[in-house]
Amino acid sequence: MVRVVAKAILAVALAGTLSLAQHAKLQAIECPFPEGQEVASEAKCAEYTACEWTDGTCHMVSNDVGGYVVDGEVQDNGRGFKVNLKKADAAITMFGGDVTDLVFEVIYHEIYHLQIKIYDQANARYQVPLPLNVPDEPVQPRLYTVGVSGNGNPFHFSVTRISNENTIFRTQGPLTFEDQFIQLHTQLMSTYLYGFGENTHTSFRQVFEPRTTFPIFARDQPVGTDPMNEYGHHPYYMVVEDNEGNSNSVLLYNSNAMEYSTYLLDDGTPSLTLRTIGGIIDLHMFLGPHPEDLNVQYANMVGTPAIPSYWSLGFHLSRWGYNSTDGVRAARERMKAMGIPQDVQTCDIDYMERQRDFTYDPVNWGDMPELIEELHNDNIKVTLILDPALVIDFDNYAPSSRGKESDVFIKWSDPSLVPSDQEPGTDEYMVGYVWPDTKTIFPDFLKPETKTWWANELKLFHEALPYDAIWIDMNEPANFGTNLDKPWNWPEGQDPWSLTCPNNKWDLPPYPTMMIRVGDNQSKKISDHTICMSGTQTDGTKNYMHYDVHSLYGITETIATFNGLKELFPDKRPIVLSRSTFPGSGKYAVHWLGDNTADWKQMHMSIIGMLDFNMFGLPMVGADVCGFFGEPDLEMCARWMQLGAFYPFSRNHNTMGTADQDPGVWPEVGQIAREVLTLRYKYLPYLYTLFHHAHMHGNSVIRPLLNEFPSDIPARDVDDQFLWGSGLMVAPVITQGATSRDVYFPQGRWYDLVYARLVATGPTTQTVYAPLDVIPVFVRGGQILPYQVPALNTVESRKNPFGLTIALDELMIAQGQIFWDDGEAQEHVMSESYMSSLAYYQEELTMSVMHGQDVVAGINLETIDILGFPKNAESISVNGENIPSSGWQYDAAASLLSIYISVPLADELNVKIYYENGL
Ligand code: GLC
Repeated sequence: MVRVVAKAILAVALAGTLSLAQHAKLQAIECPFPEGQEVASEAKCAEYTACEWTDGTCHMVSNDVGGYVVDGEVQDNGRGFKVNLKKADAAITMFGGDVTDLVFEVIYHEIYHLQIKIYDQANARYQVPLPLNVPDEPVQPRLYTVGVSGNGNPFHFSVTRISNENTIFRTQGPLTFEDQFIQLHTQLMSTYLYGFGENTHTSFRQVFEPRTTFPIFARDQPVGTDPMNEYGHHPYYMVVEDNEGNSNSVLLYNSNAMEYSTYLLDDGTPSLTLRTIGGIIDLHMFLGPHPEDLNVQYANMVGTPAIPSYWSLGFHLSRWGYNSTDGVRAARERMKAMGIPQDVQTCDIDYMERQRDFTYDPVNWGDMPELIEELHNDNIKVTLILDPALVIDFDNYAPSSRGKESDVFIKWSDPSLVPSDQEPGTDEYMVGYVWPDTKTIFPDFLKPETKTWWANELKLFHEALPYDAIWIDMNEPANFGTNLDKPWNWPEGQDPWSLTCPNNKWDLPPYPTMMIRVGDNQSKKISDHTICMSGTQTDGTKNYMHYDVHSLYGITETIATFNGLKELFPDKRPIVLSRSTFPGSGKYAVHWLGDNTADWKQMHMSIIGMLDFNMFGLPMVGADVCGFFGEPDLEMCARWMQLGAFYPFSRNHNTMGTADQDPGVWPEVGQIAREVLTLRYKYLPYLYTLFHHAHMHGNSVIRPLLNEFPSDIPARDVDDQFLWGSGLMVAPVITQGATSRDVYFPQGRWYDLVYARLVATGPTTQTVYAPLDVIPVFVRGGQILPYQVPALNTVESRKNPFGLTIALDELMIAQGQIFWDDGEAQEHVMSESYMSSLAYYQEELTMSVMHGQDVVAGINLETIDILGFPKNAESISVNGENIPSSGWQYDAAASLLSIYISVPLADELNVKIYYENGL
């Protein structure tokens, strides 16, 4: 029996001739030109049989002309339903290769989660081969219904939230489903649209006016302000539907090159066009109902984020161009001299011999093992970079010759494509050129043999250089000079050469998306800056065109590296820093936002990037502090160190040939960095507890204000402030010369974190004073934040006593939690981790330990700061015993009551405060 009845209203409304209003709607649905919309003209438009030129636009005509009709009755598929679709008019096309018969299929998963697939009835097409977590059986009751047009009618579908009839997805205009061009349009409930990536977003909220288009496809593309596709591939968005904050999110699970457009119909209806040039339509929709619910629901499907090792939450110092071990030592000494906290030292490709992976330069880095030992003795962990491209020097370079033996490198999909000048001995491998001074080949990380080989290389490398973490860069994968005369860094004096891609359907697709027209796409091809789409890859059972799996390169290398490190350090959490990511990467990876520039605008964009990646289920994220390209001045680097102190992944990094920019370079920046990083280190237990929730449940760590205040309309546009969980709000100064800034305070009480004073009771906007040495950070009333006395690194800080920052709300209530474990165990075992819950109510604090008392042996809770306490206490009891009056202090000007105790963190705790008007 069919469980969902096709919605008659929808079917009727969309049948027959178009009304004027519907025609106006279709006019907004642009027909895309491979050369860009600028070339649109009546004559060009006439080349598309599916399009019509009206009022200066080339647009889709109607379902009858370009789309599909429902072909038969709805059938039950066991956990949803499906219905066949037929191309309305086989002669009408956009780019050719139209699929005549399609299946529209609805699959119910969770109460809040459904999947909608549209695929070829007759021929299997490429689908993303990475599994998602979905329940074995559909879960009832459902928050949604799905409507589809009736038999014989133009195809449309809609998804509606049952509780309030919000239509969260409603297709409009014709569906196009061709071999290399798929296009779908939907109306949205509002213009409160967020997400999609990895793109150069200049605002967290997407723009609808003017019409805006962004490409998505993994690409080595530095940060900029034009709409460009960058390193990762995340076709996932969220819409806040209404004033109450009901929200939905949608993943288009497709890894082909794609683009999306946001625009308004003539009647103002917000609309979204999704275009992809391969695979199928595979939509996962989530119903929340609130933004933070969506975070949890999405993360659970793609895999909840890894919990980072505790030390990786410390400060990382990095640069390309230390040029020698002494360069690293000098930077480390500056940090020490200024007393700036640091946990990690990173080395970039300059440590390698001729930029070859798994080697180190015997001249300038000859004492690399000694350097690592020195750093380890200093409680500093070491991250080393690796690039995927390996040199072709089978006789002298063992990693490549072992790789060849295991047949791990990407090949041309057809022997006829192997260029005639290809290196001898490279078989059918695709040859390119990246950092090393000789040509390279690229491992196929989908392949099981590659994973085994890579794990072994990681192990052998660790025997030479005992690193703690691996940074995998250039894994879009990047290749220099593709389709050009020669790579920009080609050795002087050698005959020009570059990887040149063939002219076939993969490397010259009919609609290559706007990615060929944006950024530094010199060859104006989809393969620009990467390897050819005509490569073949395999997971051992199926073969894939690189065209389809290109954007999976990063995640497959991440998984191979993560598993390799897991074998290497059986007791420790792997830390893998990856530039390219895909849905699911958060389970394994740390991500930095790529090659930015020392520029104020880009400092702002780093906040947007962090918010995006928290949505994508990858909360361990940050940008290159003080900028990668260019050189910051003292003020910019000071402000960036302040903001960066609140990135989950906090790392200062810059490029070759620029001046040093580690905080110790300027005494003023050093002083500011010391203060702000000390504040970060103090609250690491809170950050770590947030990561525990992210790992266990899929919550965000860095949160946009709208996640906590979904019905607060002004909060939806705030992207120059962000939250750590629900308790702490950061409002960095990101404007040159500013010594104050406006801060939006949502509903509730907000206290200054450092001075512990009440600053605002929201909702309100207030100007706060922020001279160069101040970053405004606020605690939210109602929250208890655990902290620990800070130190210069986490090895030391983890031994120190704990404290609590209790920020009272209007009702004088607050709550919080503490999570703690050894900070690096691979498995998250409950008996080996500590969890306590904290509640403050009617002048009484209770700490209940849920598990893991042994884990915190020897650590005491010593200070309790209560913010917003109205007057001094008369007496205070701790676990039933009154403490002497020297055991607390009251700062009347700040309304701050500080209580000094010494109770093991492992013990239950009860603190009662008696004061006039109190108990
Ligand atoms: C890439 C990375 C950058 C690194 C450089 C050299 O540009 O994004 O972080 O420093 O390569 O390895």
